[in-house]
Amino acid sequence: SWTMLNIVEDSVEAVRRQVGDGRAICALSGGVDSAVAAALVQRAIGDRLTCVFVDHGLLRKGEAEQVERDFVAATGVKLRVVDASDRFLKALEGVSDPEEKRKIIGREFIRVFEDEQRAIMADGPVDFLVQGTLYPDVVESGGGTGTANIKSHHNVGGLPEDLQFTLVEPLRALFKDEVRRAGEELGLPAAMVWRQPFPGPGLGIRIVGEVTRERLALLREADAIAREELSRAGLDRQIWQCPVVLLADVRSVGVQGDGRTYGHPVVLRPVTSEDAMTADWARVPYDVLSRISTRITNEVPDVNRVVVDVTSKPPGTIEWE
Ligand code: XMP
Repeated sequence: SWTMLNIVEDSVEAVRRQVGDGRAICALSGGVDSAVAAALVQRAIGDRLTCVFVDHGLLRKGEAEQVERDFVAATGVKLRVVDASDRFLKALEGVSDPEEKRKIIGREFIRVFEDEQRAIMADGPVDFLVQGTLYPDVVESGGGTGTANIKSHHNVGGLPEDLQFTLVEPLRALFKDEVRRAGEELGLPAAMVWRQPFPGPGLGIRIVGEVTRERLALLREADAIAREELSRAGLDRQIWQCPVVLLADVRSVGVQGDGRTYGHPVVLRPVTSEDAMTADWARVPYDVLSRISTRITNEVPDVNRVVVDVTSKPPGTIEWE
């Protein structure tokens, strides 16, 4: 639209003024905010922006490719990809406690990013750090109360505080829906622009129990099936998000073919919400739930049961960890 085009052009111009002939770096997460911020800054300063994508191995199916291939193709952004999954999994070995997992993932992310930052600065100084801060983030950090602070959040905004960078925050005046429209205006992949909220620690906090490569592979498949069927049923816009959780420390008896199984349950957590501070469980039609359940138990090895979480927030949080 006209107004969105103006907003985009004004932001690009503002970034150009702020950065001058300096260089900037930006951490991409796969989420819409960092992607739109990066795309805007790329428009403004071209390859004086370097993006860093830390693949922590905890993303959903297809999301790393979305960043590495589709986002780069759409924007021409200069991108450094770090496959750090071994490092993250090693650090998470033997850890089941949710807060512990969050801390480890946040800490490793910072370390990897700092290594990249040093490598980038070997080519010359970098003064600016791009962040996808939105208007609601600005408001919330000015004395936020409520449930959002119950968990130690990690996202790409969770970078070291002692960095010597000036922040570039081109989305500071925008709400989420405006960011999405700006993303469309900038030609970003639809799957990225319309991505539902997804936590920074990713699938790492959707495995109840220790995070292992095998468990991640199971969860990634189950999650992909749920997303596919919810989309096919046209429910993407009605549902705020639908975490899929693997109860890796729980087993139950089942029967498949003519054999007894002793596998893991998967939890579907579809919710409706306005802002994630409160949420209600989504009344997903039974036939959609049935298709998801049938497909997950048929297609995902070691999963023999699918259950639906019917708890609102409060008392339950959206994520299980
Ligand atoms: P909870 O589970 O607290 O989640 O009801 C509220 C919303 O926040 C998302 N979430 C996160 N987002 N980093 C993020 O960027 C995080 O560490 C994180 N933890 C939870 C969650 O998916 C929901 O949308």
